[in-house]
Amino acid sequence: MGFDKSKELFERAQGALAGGVGAQVRSFSLPTPIYFERGEGSKLYDVDGNEYIDYLLGYGPLILGHCPESVVEAVRAQLDSGTLFGSPHETIVELAEKLVEIVPCYELVRFSNTGSEAVQAVQRLARGFTGKPKILKFEGHYHGWYDNIYISHLPEALSMIGLENDPWPVLGTPGQPQSVLQDIVVLGWNDLEIVERTLRTRGHEIAAIITEPIMSNCGVIPPNAGYLEGLRELTQKYDVLLIFDEVITGFRPCLGGAQEYYGVTPDLAIFAKALGGGYPIISWGGRRDIMDFIAQRKVVHAGTFNANPLCATAALATVTELARDNGAVYARMTALTDSLKAGIAESAAAHGIPIRLQGIGPFFGLSFRDPDVPITNYREAHGESPLYPQFRLALLERGVHIFPTEKGLWYLSAAHTENDISRTIAAIDEAFAALSK
Ligand SMILES: Cc1ncc(COP(=O)(O)O)c(C=O)c1O
Repeated sequence: MGFDKSKELFERAQGALAGGVGAQVRSFSLPTPIYFERGEGSKLYDVDGNEYIDYLLGYGPLILGHCPESVVEAVRAQLDSGTLFGSPHETIVELAEKLVEIVPCYELVRFSNTGSEAVQAVQRLARGFTGKPKILKFEGHYHGWYDNIYISHLPEALSMIGLENDPWPVLGTPGQPQSVLQDIVVLGWNDLEIVERTLRTRGHEIAAIITEPIMSNCGVIPPNAGYLEGLRELTQKYDVLLIFDEVITGFRPCLGGAQEYYGVTPDLAIFAKALGGGYPIISWGGRRDIMDFIAQRKVVHAGTFNANPLCATAALATVTELARDNGAVYARMTALTDSLKAGIAESAAAHGIPIRLQGIGPFFGLSFRDPDVPITNYREAHGESPLYPQFRLALLERGVHIFPTEKGLWYLSAAHTENDISRTIAAIDEAFAALSK
């Protein structure tokens, strides 16, 4: 399996496209970022003519696989009727109504184009509604790359200052102003005691707690039993809003996201990647009295491309497909994921390679770590194994496409098949054999 054309394109790209890629994480791919030509179902095809079973799924959105027929047909029809009206249209009303039915906390919704943008909207709304200045986030959680929240996502060992559950906030990149640190409080995740202590003393200045309900940008780390319920109780007790960033978990473990899965309803939530089935559309919303600040123009939300008919059409087709037969697709995707995880675990054990597989429903993380040592927060998860890039390359060479870094996720779609799973397990077995030599 060669990558010559990808390598050539990568070299050429550097002359015009900064770093040869569209986003930083894509540059971590060995032996080169792969340049793809097309996707179909569970497969991707690159410029060198290689076929891959895809578990990256565009970093999550392609929950129905590449080019799902019902979405493509709906979008194709919409292309002939207009892609941007700069005004509302019936599809967005229908989509909003559907989401209000599906997502437990949604009473009113709005739409944005990226998750990062939606996070800005809910933070502003939380501050506007409560009149309080600060947002509390957790170490290791990712809420987009904007200045005021790209803080303490994956701090390196040297910059992990402060106590495990009471860390100092750390900027993520040169270029962020120091001033953003004034309005952020960072804590370790999965510890209710520290949240209680913090809200007791600082609840008067904290507008909202924002959390990924299942930590999904650091492998997959589920909430401890009772943790989300505890956050719900404490935020109510101290008059702080609770925001679930379900950019990844929305429509993922089940249709209604992690909030349905765990039965904990936040005040506001973002449902993102899977919503558009590959088109850029994000929903955010929640309690009517809070969202009324948007409805009544007390808090500004704007955006040229918001709720455009093309992406709304894709989202309506995607959600309709996911909801079909009471969400039967989730049982199928989860069963396939379980058999993939079982095959991986069996093969790793046979080759004497300790690995940790952690996930819920059709997404999981695989890391080269002792499976018996619990991982419940960022500090416990910190670090990447040198084995992972070799493992990923060995899989690429065997036609399996996964996340470039160990903290990334494996996603399964409705298009994956049993045949994909058995081919993947065979490829993984060979990759483990090569690693264990
Ligand atoms: C939980 C979470 N929030 C926000 C974002 C930012 O979304 P986007 O990349 O669409 O800006 C991401 C992206 O992966 C995410 O995982």
